[in-house]
Formats: sequence, structure tokens, C-alpha cells
Amino acid sequence: MRIFSSYAAIGVALGSIPGSFAWGAAGHEIVATIAQMYLHPRVLPTLCGILELPNDRCHLASVATWADQHRYQMRWSAALHYVGALDDYPSETCAFPGPRGWAGHPGVNVLDGIQNTTRLLQDWVNEDASHDVANEALKFLIHFVGDMHQPLHLTGRDRGGNSVKVRFGQRTTNLHSLWDGYLIAQGVRTVSSNYSRPLPYPKIERALRGTIYDSYIRRIMWEGLLHPWAGNAAEWLSCAADAEPTEPSDLMNSGLLGAWQSAYRATQKMVATFMRDGVEIMPDGPVLCPHHWAKPLHQLNCEIVWPKALDDVRYSGRFDSRDNHDCADEALFGEEEEEEDDDDAFDGLLDLDTPEYAGVIAKRLLIEKLLAQGGIRLAGLLNYIFAREGPELGPFVVNM
Ligand SMILES: *[C@@H]1O[C@H](CO)[C@@H](O)[C@H](O)[C@H]1NC(C)=O
Ligand SMILES: *[C@@H]1O[C@H](CO)[C@@H](O)[C@H](O)[C@H]1NC(C)=O
Repeated sequence: MRIFSSYAAIGVALGSIPGSFAWGAAGHEIVATIAQMYLHPRVLPTLCGILELPNDRCHLASVATWADQHRYQMRWSAALHYVGALDDYPSETCAFPGPRGWAGHPGVNVLDGIQNTTRLLQDWVNEDASHDVANEALKFLIHFVGDMHQPLHLTGRDRGGNSVKVRFGQRTTNLHSLWDGYLIAQGVRTVSSNYSRPLPYPKIERALRGTIYDSYIRRIMWEGLLHPWAGNAAEWLSCAADAEPTEPSDLMNSGLLGAWQSAYRATQKMVATFMRDGVEIMPDGPVLCPHHWAKPLHQLNCEIVWPKALDDVRYSGRFDSRDNHDCADEALFGEEEEEEDDDDAFDGLLDLDTPEYAGVIAKRLLIEKLLAQGGIRLAGLLNYIFAREGPELGPFVVNM
């Protein structure tokens, strides 16, 4: 998710908020805040030490956007915020990856970034990595888990939607920014006023920081995590592999049919190998499985995030639509938002502030669920890395 580059843009997105924090940061900070609620009690003090924050002012949200704030000094890290597959082209095709594998360079994508930083932190626990390495790795991990839960960080089409101009009510923006900020802003703006009162859950209230999105987080907890999704949290953390393709029976395997089938499979494998000019990613493990977690999130791009209408002749031909993230790092997240008074400015732009788009997303609590999943997975990972010596509690502690 991105940080807005000007305070004017913040005002546009939300009406009035204190100028002291950047709006695009909210998604990351909300994920970090939810994670903080679910941390094992032993873990937070360790994290505060790594982050060099005093215990009384120690909050994961305060470093959640560090990786965005430093992406221009750390140019090497820019491609770590997303991943894209060569054959992916939502909303037509959601390949994760397709036959040709992943775009970019080996190890340099958000899924590998999560694996890499987790391993570095485990090394620190085993006294095999320095404090400075752990400090940087932890700040990256908190950020990457947020990025992974924004579906457009999982596709390379049109730089994750950054090149796709859209209309959102009286504003022009792009599809990526809409998901990074505008939809969250709308959620914050429309949250019902009863959530300005504290909830009867000390763990929730202790993690809130007096921000303008506190009420929104209470709503995510009350209408989501505490009830309808309470039973899903364990499943969100699980790495259970997709069901194995059933093997043809021995009977089928014997005789001509079997021989034909194995020849066919071998050919398929050869074709796939031959075509695979992309890169591989690190394989999922039994506890840490970013690919398994990201796959259904990525499918949302075909289901709802990338409107089919954007490929209508009416809206197409305005952009170079097959270029990729890699070609344009510096432009990534760099676009300014504008408020338009002049209706001509909207010519040819698809409006997404409609009941069929933003309305459906709001009704399904889709953004809220993505933020909740990010928070649960971040907490689960941190508990796993830093509290696993507590056998009585198991690797993941997820209860209020
Ligand atoms: C792994 O993370 C560290 C920082 O936390 C970084 O310096 C290094 O480049 C990363 N490596 C890969 C392959 O992502
Ligand atoms: C707040 O109000 C909504 C309806 O507007 C209701 O569904 C929800 O349960 C209320 N939340 C709390 C914490 O009372």
C-alpha cells in the first residue's frame, strides 16, 4: 500500500484528518494494530527490543510504513512489495503463476520477502543474526504481510493497476490507489458512530492509538473477527496444501491407457519446462506458506477487484496495458490524485463509486476481511517466530 505524496491528497480522500500522518499508511497500520491484539504476551517486549521502542510506546503500527518511507533510499527493495506472474492478466486470467512462472528476479518479490525476513528473524532467535539485521527484517515483515493482503500487489498487469485511471465519484485516481487508500477511507468515513465508544475487550482497546480509524478497527473486530470470522482464523493460518490431484488407479496405469497417460504427462511437463522463462519462488513450508495464503487473495482480482468493464472498448486503448511493474519502479505509487470540477475530465473513465462495485465490496466486508486476515497472519507469524518455546500454548495464539 502506498503513502500519499501530498497532504492535499489526504484532505481529498478523507475530508478532514490531522495532517500528521499519511493516509495510504492506514491499511498497513490497521493490519499491524490487529496483529498487536493477538500477540502472545511474551512476544511484544521482544519486538519492542528489536525495534528499539520503549515498552510504554511500543506499537507495531509505528513502523508499519517504514518500508514505504524508505523505498527511495532503498531502491533495491522496491520490487519486494509485490509479485506478478508472467501469464497473469486479470480480469481475463488469474494465473498464480501460469506455465511461465513469475516475473522479475529470483527472491525479489513480496512472497519471498516474507520468507526471507522470517528466516532472518529465526536466525536472530538462534543468535545467528545481528540486532541490526533483525531490526530491518522485522520492519519489512510487518509491511510485506500488509502488502500481500492488497490483491493488486499480487498482479503485474498495468503495474498492479497503477497505470489504470479510474473515476471514483468526483475524483480521478487509479485502480491501485483506490485499493490502497480510497476504499479504506470510505470505510472509515462511513463507520457507524457507536464504534467511537470503547469495546469491552481490553486487548482490543489497549492496541488502539487514538487515530481516526480506531472506530473502523472496532467495527472490523466486532462485526468480523469476534464473531463471523472467529472460527476462520485458524484456517487463515493453516498451510494445508490444496488437495493432491488424485492419482489414476493402478488398473488405469497398467496397459495401453496407462502408457499413453504417462507419455502424455511427460510431454506436458516438458512443454511446461520449455515455456517457463520466468523465475521460481521459494516453496511454501508447513507453517509459513505465503503462496498458499496469497493464492485466493489473488483470485479476487478476477472475481471483483479488476472490473471486466475496464477492458471494454469504451475504456481501453488509453494506456499501454501490457507493461509490467519492473519497467517502472520509480513511477510505482507515484501518481498524484486530483479532484475534478470539470466533468470532461471524467470522459472515458469508468466510475467505481457505484453500488455494483464499491457497494458490493462494502457489503461483503471485503476490505475489512483482508485487513483482518493480514493482522491474524502477522500475529501468527510473530508468535511462531518468537514464542514457540511455549509448548502449552502452541505456535499460534489466536484468542481474545
Ligand atoms: C532479505 O532481507 C534482507 C533485509 O531484511 C535484505 O537485505 C536482503 O536483500 C533480502 N534478500 C532477499 C533475497 O530478499
Ligand atoms: C453498532 O451499530 C450497528 C448498526 O448500526 C450494529 O450492527 C452493531 O452491532 C453496533 N455495534 C456495537 C459495538 O454496538
